Amino acid sequence: MATTIDVKLGERSYPIHVGRGLTLAHVLESKAGIRILMISDSNVDALHGEACQKQLAGQGFEVLRIVIPAGESTKSLHWVDFLYGKAAEAGLDRSSVILALGGGMTGDLAGFVAATYLRGIRFIQVPTSLLAMVDSSVGGKTGLNLTQGKNLVGAFYQPIEVDADLDLLKTLPSREYVSGLAEVVKYGVIWDAAFFHLLEKEVGGLLSRDSVLLEKVVARCCEIKAEVVAMDEREIGPRAILNFGHTLGHAIEKVDGYGRWFHGEAVAIGMAYAARLSMTVKGFSAVEADAVVGLLGKLGLPVRPASGDKLDWMAVREAMMSDKKTLNKRPRFVLARKLGAVMTGCEVDESVLVEAWHVCSK
Ligand code: GLY
Repeated sequence: MATTIDVKLGERSYPIHVGRGLTLAHVLESKAGIRILMISDSNVDALHGEACQKQLAGQGFEVLRIVIPAGESTKSLHWVDFLYGKAAEAGLDRSSVILALGGGMTGDLAGFVAATYLRGIRFIQVPTSLLAMVDSSVGGKTGLNLTQGKNLVGAFYQPIEVDADLDLLKTLPSREYVSGLAEVVKYGVIWDAAFFHLLEKEVGGLLSRDSVLLEKVVARCCEIKAEVVAMDEREIGPRAILNFGHTLGHAIEKVDGYGRWFHGEAVAIGMAYAARLSMTVKGFSAVEADAVVGLLGKLGLPVRPASGDKLDWMAVREAMMSDKKTLNKRPRFVLARKLGAVMTGCEVDESVLVEAWHVCSK
């Protein structure tokens, strides 16, 4: 049994399957002669590479399994070049498919290669982290890092199918799993107050990775993301609500060195900060702001910029200027009016930014 969510984008529409023990690449009707370049990193390949390759080969696909180094630094032009080489050696043609088996890094990199090799070949996402299941595998953002910054190169390129197999989460290290829960909470804040309250009630089940609950939760997150992406595929307008907590989150990742914080952890701190700004600027109630911070904390996520060594506000403020949403040196925030309703492009007075920083850092 699985739940299927459709991302409705006209001729670029595709299904997301959420369940356990999924049949991968279900969407491809003819199997014989179809070549799949399956890309995963060394961690994921060791855990799941063989089983996935066997499953696909068992269906009749020709599978070429490529392993790349684990870690964000692999999301680079060097590894794009490496994968183009592998695609050419394998003789991929326009009927071939690139399948990303992994977390956000693998999906972003493999997606970029799929978007550009032969001017675009079919792409399937098999996310293996919670964050990739609820966020990065859905919506068609692909990207690469340059030395000058993260995700500065990329393309919008939709997959033809996303297979979120919850069995793959069983091997996910605890800190990485909890980090993914930050993006789950985000959907409650930006879109669905009832979903937020369900998460509040189910903290125990979330932390124990209850599989029935997870199917419901992952499917709801994908449903919300699918709806947002269908409204604004290329982030011209409302898709920006998905960046709640990310203005500060990205700045913290940048200042504190990528790698110290997991992405979801930095976003959790950013959401606690955005909740505080929302109280001052948008009339978000203190009760709801406390509920956001409280839920993040109960899930084991950080809600303060630093524990022990303090982060320098000036450095963080400077880093906010390199955010893609910054205009005329003024960062833009996604802020909440109430749970389930947010506004994008909010400018905030400098004094409010500083005061909220001091309150949140305590
Ligand atoms: N991760 C935000 C987006 O896909 O737009």
